[in-house]
Amino acid sequence: MEVVVGDITTLNVDALVNAANTSLLGGGGVDGAIHRAAGPELKEECRALNGCATGDAKITRGCRLRAKHVIHAVGPVWHGGSHGEDELLASCYASAIGLCAEHRLASIAFPAISNGVYHFPGDRAAGIAVATTVEALQTAPTLKRVIFCCFSDASAALHEQAMAGFGTSCAD
Ligand code: APR
Repeated sequence: MEVVVGDITTLNVDALVNAANTSLLGGGGVDGAIHRAAGPELKEECRALNGCATGDAKITRGCRLRAKHVIHAVGPVWHGGSHGEDELLASCYASAIGLCAEHRLASIAFPAISNGVYHFPGDRAAGIAVATTVEALQTAPTLKRVIFCCFSDASAALHEQAMAGFGTSCAD
């Protein structure tokens, strides 16, 4: 597992995870960046998926992206923490890794799901992201590389702190 700071659309991995919304028809933030880089075919493929529930994830081709696939995960909007937000965020990471196992993918890159306009607290989200990923990796033997692609040094530091808590260095 590793943490990088940069634009997730530039990564050459088997699957990029998109922080999508339930319509799967695009938006701002990383959703907008991925759709812009992937081209209009991505939206057409997403349209055929008929949306996605919060906490769930669906997979498409990567279209014009370097990545082979996009895994569209729908994170929870933060409403103070007593509306199942932690479980729904964890479910995004577990569902995405489950799709990697199903499609026998070797590498995946995650943005900080729900950390933008969905206002999930960054430190809490990073802890959930790392803990859920470490656990879910046991069910995805083909997955050899997990990248947390953060968009700021602060976000990256939170993910590195969470990994340190698991005794997982960047080399793991
Ligand atoms: N690469 C990597 N990370 C990015 C990029 C990028 N190109 N652009 C933004 N981010 C980061 C943000 O800084 C934030 O840390 O992704 C994280 C998630 O932020 P959002 O994209 O706002 O996603 P989220 O908070 O999950 O809200 C999802 O926003 O764009 C809409 O359609 C989307 O309705 C959905 C909602």
